[in-house]
Amino acid sequence: MTAKIISGKDISSDIKNEAAAAAAALTAVGRQPTLAVIVVGEDPASRVYVNNKKKACVFCGINSPEYAFPYETTQETLLRCIDELNRAPEVDGILCQLPLPAHIDENAVIDAIDPKKDVDGFSPVNACNLLAGKDCFLPCTPAGIIEMLRRSGIQTAGKHCVILGRSNIVGKPAAVLMLRENATVTVCHSKTKDLKSYTKSADILIAAIGKPNFVTADMVKPGAAVIDVGINRTPDGKLCGDVDFEHVKEVAGAISPVPGGVGPMTIAMLMHNTVKAAQMHINE
Ligand code: GUN
Repeated sequence: MTAKIISGKDISSDIKNEAAAAAAALTAVGRQPTLAVIVVGEDPASRVYVNNKKKACVFCGINSPEYAFPYETTQETLLRCIDELNRAPEVDGILCQLPLPAHIDENAVIDAIDPKKDVDGFSPVNACNLLAGKDCFLPCTPAGIIEMLRRSGIQTAGKHCVILGRSNIVGKPAAVLMLRENATVTVCHSKTKDLKSYTKSADILIAAIGKPNFVTADMVKPGAAVIDVGINRTPDGKLCGDVDFEHVKEVAGAISPVPGGVGPMTIAMLMHNTVKAAQMHINE
């Protein structure tokens, strides 16, 4: 039996509709949500992501002014822009698209964003609050994964969740969020020995390693839910995930595709976070 397809496209559409309704209510009282979008350089992938984020903002009725800087921009210029946006009362969220050019310290930029406007959930304050179990802005990709599981009726309590990848943006926060969902969590990475022994025991397998078609059918437990976070290009330019979708879907119980899986969920959660920021700021 082939797996149920977890459509990030459909679920993200529901979340964007919810964000749009909340944004309309804010706009009706004279407080349209605003997401400031910072882009540095001309990285083509970043351009696509930023355009998709801005398109979602238009759909949701969120204002999204862009602050575009050339590749050569100094860190000082960028920090000055963030400082102004931090102090601008009409700005609810600040998104600085990563990666930044090598001469800019990404951590310094992330640290400069006011945690109350950090709708990406990358700042140390939000990361700490996540660890401490407090309310905070959740990083959009892991938060999107949780929503996908929840809205697809996939049980997490007591299940073994195996995460491939330990990045600050996906792997680490996904581990914390899955713990919060009462899963038993294993995080695997490039130095893990006998990877297959872990993946084979996963009821929920989250692949976030950035290697095309890395997870093959023999690595997956029959009936498992497989969430593919990868966005890779094959040599012929086609988009593909970290999971060998065609073969794994014959073994898994549920699987998210690429494209149309986690990608649109990340954007939907950014809309959710921006509206949440505006709701927080309305009384300030
Ligand atoms: N680059 C890749 N993913 C992301 C993301 O979720 N947010 C930002 N700001 N940059 C990214």
